[in-house]
Amino acid sequence: MSASPVKVAVTGAAGNIGYSLLFRIAAGDLFGPDTPVELRLLEVTPALKALEGVVMELDDSAFPLLAGVQIGDDAEKVFDGVNHALLVGAKPRGPGMERGDLLKDNGGIFGPQGKALNKVAADDIKVTVTGNPANTNALIAMSNAPDIPNERFTALTRLDHNRALAQLAAKLGVKTTDITQMSIWGNHSATQYPDLFHAQVGGKSAAEAINDQDWIENTYIPTVAKRGAAIIDARGASSAASAAAATIDHARDWQLGTNGGWVSMSVLSDGSYGVPEGIISSFPVTVADGKWSIVQGLEIDDFSRGKIDASAKELQGERDTVKELGLI
Ligand code: NAD
Ligand code: LMR
Repeated sequence: MSASPVKVAVTGAAGNIGYSLLFRIAAGDLFGPDTPVELRLLEVTPALKALEGVVMELDDSAFPLLAGVQIGDDAEKVFDGVNHALLVGAKPRGPGMERGDLLKDNGGIFGPQGKALNKVAADDIKVTVTGNPANTNALIAMSNAPDIPNERFTALTRLDHNRALAQLAAKLGVKTTDITQMSIWGNHSATQYPDLFHAQVGGKSAAEAINDQDWIENTYIPTVAKRGAAIIDARGASSAASAAAATIDHARDWQLGTNGGWVSMSVLSDGSYGVPEGIISSFPVTVADGKWSIVQGLEIDDFSRGKIDASAKELQGERDTVKELGLI
């Protein structure tokens, strides 16, 4: 076991996602079975009592890797020296809302948290934003943390990626592990583009294996893109355990690498594939040595082009809105 624990911050720790996420981190699912972790949990003041209860349950689980837990409502104290920050704390949408509708309410959370991370986080800090609208919230945090390299700010589209794998596997009667090169492009929103043209199943493209453009366009893509809303309709609350699992998948792969495999991460665009610079958009990436790289050299046909451009345009609109609100 390595000597010094990794410090992981989780915001919104008393919320629904937190209730699943904290126990997965403490069990070693983020940094692996040999690395102790210290949890730093941020909440708003009224939620601190509930958070104390969650900490009692963490204690009662006697996790061998859990080296310590600190809680608080002051970001500068809680983020002091943290190596990975999971920014989950934000309001979820309700029925009939789009995630972008949360921008005004939630955007204000991520500027101060970016500033606090800039001031007190460890030099190797990595930031994963789950709170919605995740892509633009990550942009806000990044813009408020000028001393942290931009590539250390990412947003979660891994839940969409996992949904895309599950829907495709069900259609083809294969296991999710039989599918490689899945990718989500664009925003964590209804405009996202789950790409079956580059996904591979049994040595051929998933689109070829399905051979039904109508199903891809009118069933598959909307099912994946609107899955969050379907869960809100069914559960009366937004996805929580699957969102926690995806947050773990994202952060673990960023820390430990993907062994050449593709995953979807929302990262600052460098202009790859014509996605405008200055927005945090989802791409297929590989990760090695703690650094993500956008997969290069893919051919993009007209159908995919239209989908990628539409989602990028939505992200540019969100960026313009938060600029007008003075958040970046
Ligand atoms: P929740 O309402 O159960 O919990 C959110 C928690 O955040 C609350 O305990 C609240 O007190 C806390 N909080 C609010 N402002 C805070 C602040 N400034 N600092 C620290 N904590 C703060 O919500 P949830 O179900 O846990 O979802 C959290 C967020 O994650 C929502 O915005 C939701 O839409 C989003 N989400 C994203 C994905 C994704 O794939 N990116 C998936 C699911 C949910
Ligand atoms: C999801 O995709 O499940 C979350 O972003 C919650 C939501 O609002 O859809």
